[in-house]
Amino acid sequence: MAATKSVVTILVLVIFFFVYRVDTFKEKRRFYYEEGVIPSLSHCPGHYCGRTELQNGSWSTCGACERGLRRNDSSACVQCNDTPEFYDKLYLGFMGLLPLTFHLGCIDAAAKRRTFTKDVMALYASAILEVCVAAVVTLLITEPMGSFHIRSCKVRKLADWYPLLHNPNPNYEGPLHCTQEAVYPLYSMVFVFYTLCLLVMLVIRPVLSSKLLPGRGKSAIYSALYFFPALIVTHAVGAGLIYYSFPYMVIILSVISNAAHFAFQLDQSMPGLLLGCVRDVRNLVILLGHWGLHAYGIIAITQLKEGVLHGSLCALVPLPAFFYILTSRFTDPSNMS
Ligand SMILES: *[C@@H]1O[C@H](CO)[C@@H](O)[C@H](O)[C@H]1NC(C)=O
Ligand SMILES: *[C@@H]1O[C@H](CO)[C@@H](O)[C@H](O)[C@H]1NC(C)=O
Repeated sequence: MAATKSVVTILVLVIFFFVYRVDTFKEKRRFYYEEGVIPSLSHCPGHYCGRTELQNGSWSTCGACERGLRRNDSSACVQCNDTPEFYDKLYLGFMGLLPLTFHLGCIDAAAKRRTFTKDVMALYASAILEVCVAAVVTLLITEPMGSFHIRSCKVRKLADWYPLLHNPNPNYEGPLHCTQEAVYPLYSMVFVFYTLCLLVMLVIRPVLSSKLLPGRGKSAIYSALYFFPALIVTHAVGAGLIYYSFPYMVIILSVISNAAHFAFQLDQSMPGLLLGCVRDVRNLVILLGHWGLHAYGIIAITQLKEGVLHGSLCALVPLPAFFYILTSRFTDPSNMS
């Protein structure tokens, strides 16, 4: 048995070795492309290098396309004229929901009250308003200016979010620098949005919270000053991964946070949990907020491609909450002893 296994392993290794050698022989062929300014269009190496048309009709040397342009299949830099798909819009919506939920959570934690009061409600309203204003302004200042439409380049694969990692190095003669925003403007507009959120917050909130929640309102602002830079860094590094995984992140995180919310209830009996949901406005709002997030995740995963079927999946939204309520009897830690 062991002998057969080692023979197979050696065979696999030998095959890999030869495949690798053949590959390196292929690589030794020189990669050919025209360098410098050329009269008629020809191919560029890499996925993101392109040629820009010059005023006298010739084509520039291979390099990064200008902002808002992306190379087409024949390596010419052409304008991005796609419109964002439904999924792209949901992605942008998710990037907007992130600071909003963080704001609401921080205000809730700072208020240290189990019920809503008018002052705290005003702070919630202020947070929602800030994010909305920032979102509207961001949409207005992205191309085409002054409208809610977005002119974009289609996202084709994960690498589009990280062109920096894909600078070609033809014939190992030094890399060509072709880093550009291939997913224009989905990457940059989120930075603009977060910066605007921060600015609008710093204008509106201090005045409001010093009037309404002096002392404790401050800590919600301080936490925002922490989480915005964290969000910006996360977006800078993880944008591509977030783009492809956000529907699952929404569902997983909202289910966890839903369970955590229930776990903090004092009365863990089934009727107590059920009554707690309806008797207390704050609990009801938190529950409905979670259901909204579950639904957002389901819509983003299915993209409602089969309208009725996928729409009806949204009926599953109350399931995690009911599952917690039904099973909380069995998961009580005191059962362990
Ligand atoms: C076009 O202009 C570029 C510089 O702008 C120059 O290098 C190139 O020779 C010109 N081509 C022709 C055909 O005049
Ligand atoms: C790319 O753009 C150039 C310039 O607009 C055009 O001549 C060429 O046909 C385009 N190639 C493809 C594959 O669309």
